[in-house]
Amino acid sequence: MNDLSTKQVTFTLSATDGMARRGRIDTPRGDIQTPAFMPVGTAGTVKAMYPEQVRETGADILLGNTYHLMLRPGAERVASQGGLHDFMDWQRPILTDSGGFQVMSLAQLRKLTEKGVTFRSHIDGSSYELTPERSIEIQTLLDSDIIMQLDECLKLPAEYKEMERAMELSLRWADRSKTAFNNQRNRALFGIVQGGDNAELRARSAQGLKSIGFDGYAVGGLAVGEPQEVMFKVIEEITPELPTDRPRYLMGVGKPDDILGAIGRGIDMFDCVHPTRAGRHGHVYTRFGVINLKNARHRDDSRPIDEASPNPNCRRWSRAYLHHLVKTEEILGAMILSQINLAYYQELVQGCRGAIEGGRFSDFAAETRAAWAAGDL
Ligand code: GUN
Repeated sequence: MNDLSTKQVTFTLSATDGMARRGRIDTPRGDIQTPAFMPVGTAGTVKAMYPEQVRETGADILLGNTYHLMLRPGAERVASQGGLHDFMDWQRPILTDSGGFQVMSLAQLRKLTEKGVTFRSHIDGSSYELTPERSIEIQTLLDSDIIMQLDECLKLPAEYKEMERAMELSLRWADRSKTAFNNQRNRALFGIVQGGDNAELRARSAQGLKSIGFDGYAVGGLAVGEPQEVMFKVIEEITPELPTDRPRYLMGVGKPDDILGAIGRGIDMFDCVHPTRAGRHGHVYTRFGVINLKNARHRDDSRPIDEASPNPNCRRWSRAYLHHLVKTEEILGAMILSQINLAYYQELVQGCRGAIEGGRFSDFAAETRAAWAAGDL
């Protein structure tokens, strides 16, 4: 039997509308409806949320982080506890990021070579090495369902020569990752397109990844300091270069408006800390835009967040009470607002799925943006 017929992680595209795509990824731990938003569970928890609550918002898959888990509690320890799914008791699919991006943003004394990256932990200063092979090994120990290659992500703006060097290094690491992955049947390996804001570099990256061959293709190196229009331009230029029969994942994006724009340009999967982080800071996403509950104007506001929402937490408490929880930094505030934001993100991608199936994605996007702009006041 060939590789494809035995693979247990597969992608089925069921509808398209313009560039927007509706599909499903099947895995041994359940299916992932696309377009998909993956809540971030960096350290083996989606902050302030029980796993079943995350599922109830509609999430099919979570993201976990190689970098954090290799430092604490250690990949071998997670493996000896039965893997990340049992450890945190989330039995559905998990995608793990490879660690390169987090090393660049969090670790100290980083040194990048052809072999990989050495760094000191941001927690206790101890030394570590992450190579493409070790990253695959860690993600396999975690028992990840979708593994990401190790890559180098630059901040923008960057010099052409620097973007070319990082893209070519990422391609060589992609090749080593594929060899180290060793065609495991029960999980997927995704390559990551780099190349900054340069169309030619991005196209070369995509070509190189396609000739190695991956189960899915991520677009990395975006939402790293560039304006939204630059991000959209890069996505528009790169999605036509990617295989139509594999999922496309835009890493680390974004706000609801970024997600809507990227789905319209052919992206299938997203992850971002924004909904949970914003929730912990008192920002709540709704059909009519974002509300900053820290603002004093909510002190005496007896209205709920959204009385017409299907989410009970949007109807249950007054804005005055939620303002109070945020101002007093009560844990319950972080719990409620994280749940509301994650539920809204899922409502948004679910709306997109229905609209793509019905061939009315651009109307849906325009109506959704108009409602955000109109506000609720
Ligand atoms: N998360 C957000 N952007 C990136 C990226 O470019 N690479 C990786 N590995 N993770 C990311």
